[in-house]
Amino acid sequence: MVASTTVKLNTGAEMPTVSLGTWKSQPGQVEHAVEFALKNGYKGIDTAAAYKNEAEVGKGLKASGVPRESFFLTTKLDNPDQKHAEKALFDSLKALDTPYLDLWLMHWPAPMIDGSTPDKSIDWLNTWKEMERLYKAYPDKLKAIGVSNFSVKFLERLLAEATVVPAVNQIELHPSCTQTDVVEFCRSKGIVITSYSPLGSDNSPLLTNPTVTKLAEKYSVAPANILISLQANKPGVTVLPKSVTNSRIEANKKIVDLTDDEIAELEAIDKQHHFRACHPSWTGFGSLGFPDCLDADK
Ligand code: A2P
Repeated sequence: MVASTTVKLNTGAEMPTVSLGTWKSQPGQVEHAVEFALKNGYKGIDTAAAYKNEAEVGKGLKASGVPRESFFLTTKLDNPDQKHAEKALFDSLKALDTPYLDLWLMHWPAPMIDGSTPDKSIDWLNTWKEMERLYKAYPDKLKAIGVSNFSVKFLERLLAEATVVPAVNQIELHPSCTQTDVVEFCRSKGIVITSYSPLGSDNSPLLTNPTVTKLAEKYSVAPANILISLQANKPGVTVLPKSVTNSRIEANKKIVDLTDDEIAELEAIDKQHHFRACHPSWTGFGSLGFPDCLDADK
């Protein structure tokens, strides 16, 4: 395969294949990470209202001195904000101190009252309809809308009523959580997949997995580069390595082209060792239709 550098969205816009992830990036660190990434060639930054770091990300964007139109900015509607999406959109724009978002995602199909209580009085499908309304009402502020953590079952329900096909579905994606059903379904509908936790998140066993380290040696790169490259080699997939460490932010940009056999070998890790860094059951809505999480529905 030849890894991409950008992927075209169904809006016609190009999304950079690699953007900096900021989930778990702590206050006091993320401003610098964003500034460093943009100054050192990253073309995209991903954040979320739920990460509680939008204001600091915004400072990093400014500090970089990179013109707004030169990078792709994504944030997400938090679960407790599903009942007032319009206010949440304007709060995110203000916190990030940006005139527009390149992409705004529904963070989870899981309306919540607070950080731990599901809100069963709200239907996420109505939230999507509200996001569609805002997308049409504010084309100068919202360049694209999409979803995150959507299983095939939930996407099918959304697409049956949507007037705007989501541009992106951002999901956990790495060799121990391959989700080929979601990737293939989205590809068939022209929905770009974004991989979060491509390294397997903090203290990941994937960084010492023998298949990963063998390929890292072959290509003279770090294990992280193999894991990031795996996603960048897949058509219609973009990827969000997270780091607050300058040397890693710099190193994670290096993408190698993998053979089809190597991709298959990496994807086979899931059969031996499956895990999720972020299990959907934390929302109180069980499996959210993900086949590997059905135990959570019991
Ligand atoms: P840190 O942010 O302290 O540099 P993921 O992208 O899958 O969510 O993984 C993020 C985790 O991986 C963080 O703990 C991050 O640490 C670490 N990480 C990021 N880049 C590398 C790298 N090149 N090598 C090892 N660990 C990395």
